[in-house]
Amino acid sequence: MELNALTGSLSTRKTECLAVAFGKDGLDNAELNSLDKASGGLIARLVKKGDIKPTHNNFLMISEPPGLAAQRLLIYSTGKDTLNEQSFLELLSGLAGQLTKLPIKSAAVSLEGVEVSDRDTPWMAQQLGRRLGEASYLFNPFKSADKKPTTLKKVSLLQAGRPGLDANKRALAIGTAIGNGINRARELGDLPGNICTPSYLATQAKNLAGHYSNMACKVLTEKQMQDLGMGSLLSVTAGTEQPAKMIVLEYKGGTRGSKPVVLVGKGVTFDSGGISLKPGAGMDEMKYDMCGAASVFGTLSAAADCQLPLNVVGIIPTVENMPSGRATKPGDIVTSMSGQTIEILNTDAEGRLILCDALTYAGRYKPSVVVDIATLTGACVMALGSHASGLLSNDDPLAEQLETAGKNSGDRVWRLPLWKEYDKQLKSNFADMANIGGREAGTITAACFLGRFTKNYRWAHLDIAGTAWNSGANKGATGRPVPLLMQFLLEQAAQ
Ligand code: BES
Ligand code: MN
Ligand code: ZN
Repeated sequence: MELNALTGSLSTRKTECLAVAFGKDGLDNAELNSLDKASGGLIARLVKKGDIKPTHNNFLMISEPPGLAAQRLLIYSTGKDTLNEQSFLELLSGLAGQLTKLPIKSAAVSLEGVEVSDRDTPWMAQQLGRRLGEASYLFNPFKSADKKPTTLKKVSLLQAGRPGLDANKRALAIGTAIGNGINRARELGDLPGNICTPSYLATQAKNLAGHYSNMACKVLTEKQMQDLGMGSLLSVTAGTEQPAKMIVLEYKGGTRGSKPVVLVGKGVTFDSGGISLKPGAGMDEMKYDMCGAASVFGTLSAAADCQLPLNVVGIIPTVENMPSGRATKPGDIVTSMSGQTIEILNTDAEGRLILCDALTYAGRYKPSVVVDIATLTGACVMALGSHASGLLSNDDPLAEQLETAGKNSGDRVWRLPLWKEYDKQLKSNFADMANIGGREAGTITAACFLGRFTKNYRWAHLDIAGTAWNSGANKGATGRPVPLLMQFLLEQAAQ
């Protein structure tokens, strides 16, 4: 989706569809009034007839409106009150639905007469860009015959006057970048495990870096990881035929030498559980166990599209977790890159085993902060459901920044504690730690495990097991937490 902001009169705008608001001031709005005049009082007549209702999320499509240059006029009603964020987003999703179902290539949208409490027009423009992008997502590369992709490619935000035009342009560009980043993450998530393998992700990373002059990619092989001492990560890949990779993407938008934000994404392209095999029902959903990695791809591409003045490093440890005669067994003891030893009591607690070595590796970048993103625990789905991602951190200011970014993007997080009492649950009789901490507080003990590898920098962990995909009839990746991470980076760049 391509978005732009333009100024000009609504009635003379040539477009396949012009969307205008019937806001709380109704026809008293200057822009709507001028449209009414140009169309010979059509809008006033339709209001009188009751075809244009002043109720929130009501839409009326008028084909070939007289007196206007537009081929179609779409009137969307905001309702009588000033909108809150939620009702504005509902309106945008209704609008996106109306526009994307038309057989049109381009449209113009006016936000005149729309007010959202505590939010300015650039915020609305950013949301418009993002939501239109999200609405155009369609995943059907494996359907022989199915829905066609939407034809809508270009949307202009049309405003009457010049004021605010540049800010709206920038906001649309950011929103578009976020929408594209979300869709990139969804696509990688939705791809099945037989296609989206660690090698596939490595190829995608190289392609991504090739698109930007200020992005570099390197991929560590198993041999290189062995030389670095990543015995923990390599234990997870022991049972599969697919070679493991450690992908490193470096986006250099900041000044030389400024410390990077490091994002570490769990990339288990399929999690069978290994020898601690998962039950069969719903196991297909474990193709989504690389959504942390997908969110790093989506966030880095969005950051690069926006040319954020920051250095951001993405580190993606990626493996397939399978049982076999060569697979790691419960009771096996491995040595991580940090030198700490781990007794693997459950091979299904594999995410932390690959992340710990990636987190040790992240220390090499002298990061300003490290955020890891992982579909780490079923316990997090039980605790927070699909509304908030779990947040655990060793740094209060960082945690607060992520909470703020969550509120501002609508992609929320909820913080859980990392107390030492929980950490004690990881005690092992035979090694420095066990990889599981018993039945209680599974999300916290998983984060405590990671916390043993992140002592040298400010770190936060996002458990996205409940937020990264939808189950049931609408099964599919959500693209979360790309909106949260981009908002966080935007706020970092503004500091
Ligand atoms: N990828 C899973 C976590 C998961 C489970 C995400 C269900 C989404 C839905 C992870 O690797 C895992 O298997 N975790 C175990 C940990 C346990 C063995 C301590 C879990 O949550 O059951
Ligand atoms: Mn697992
Ligand atoms: Zn997993």
